[in-house]
Amino acid sequence: MIAAILAAMISQTTSHQGVQAHAEDAPGPFTDLRSDTVTLPTAAMYERMRHAALGDDGLDGDPTARELEALAARTFGKEAGLYVPTATMGNLLAVLTQVPRQGQVAMEATAHMFLTERGGATLGAVAYLGIPGTAGEMDLSGLKQALLRSNALRTELVCMETTHVNAGGAVLSLAHMRAVRDLAHGAGARVHIDGARIFNAAVALQVAPDAVAGFADTVSICLSKGLSAPAGAVLVGPAETLSRARQLRKMLGGTQRQIGILAATGLEAIETMPKRLAQDHAMANQLGAALRAVLPDQIGLTGPATNIIFVELPDDVPESAAWARELQKHGVLIRPWGQRRIRLVTHRHINSASIAAAAAGFEKAASELLG
Ligand SMILES: Cc1ncc(COP(=O)(O)O)c(C=O)c1O
Repeated sequence: MIAAILAAMISQTTSHQGVQAHAEDAPGPFTDLRSDTVTLPTAAMYERMRHAALGDDGLDGDPTARELEALAARTFGKEAGLYVPTATMGNLLAVLTQVPRQGQVAMEATAHMFLTERGGATLGAVAYLGIPGTAGEMDLSGLKQALLRSNALRTELVCMETTHVNAGGAVLSLAHMRAVRDLAHGAGARVHIDGARIFNAAVALQVAPDAVAGFADTVSICLSKGLSAPAGAVLVGPAETLSRARQLRKMLGGTQRQIGILAATGLEAIETMPKRLAQDHAMANQLGAALRAVLPDQIGLTGPATNIIFVELPDDVPESAAWARELQKHGVLIRPWGQRRIRLVTHRHINSASIAAAAAGFEKAASELLG
């Protein structure tokens, strides 16, 4: 997989749906609102790759990967970091290192870890428990119940996700995070944050990243979403937990060799990209206003709290897949999020011109689909 990424980077192109999209600031003919994962590396990232100090990360360590791990740990106020290929692996290692077999992991019921990653629980013989919530925040009485020692399964880890992708990029309040941390620690459980978009949360809250991370023992941070690195994530936390995570990463096949070539893009991502995320949030606001102006009232919009908007389709209009097909004809790429919801995500390649193009595309699609 890494080889495929590197090949794509060397030719400086990547493709989606059969269309070539050129790297850097000319991402191709489509207005691509499917995800912030479509972001391409910046020129500075390519430059840092070229000059990265390299070593064997499976032997005595790759110096650039180590530098990235130390930077991530510092940024989030933790003792140690571990570079992993994906945020999914970061979350899984947080579970495998902190939950004994037959232990339970509690999280909000629509969390990405619950809906998309819970197959990983089978690897550790642990159970994931979904707790009902509102806007990504767990119902605290449900959490208290899950933490009761009398439960057949003992809850060893509580996970939070901020920003919360299935709650439309919602930002958990710091008060909620504090309450969850206090309940979990009070019951002897650890806390993990799925921080795939934790920088977006910190920017929206106008606090430093460690102020958000301070409510957890471990945090996974994704480098390849709004931060624009081509791949990679970092798990941060206590040194002893991270040393165990390093061993388990090896077992999972996640130890890579001269991986500093990619870690270099992660350094650039953490050092320079968070400060521009406010632009993505502003673009999402602009997109919401533009869509409101062209879509009929019966179609609802949720958000944006950060860089994600949901378009809510009532039962009497064609479903999301039909909108995806129609919008693509007009140069707009979107992601069906279930049959009655469309997900739109702003990112570095979306500017005011793309918003105008997206709104024009939606207007045409609406007139074709709604008559
Ligand atoms: C909130 C959240 N957590 C974790 C992940 C997993 O990230 P990756 O695809 O890098 O494993 C995603 C991916 O979209 C996500 O949105």
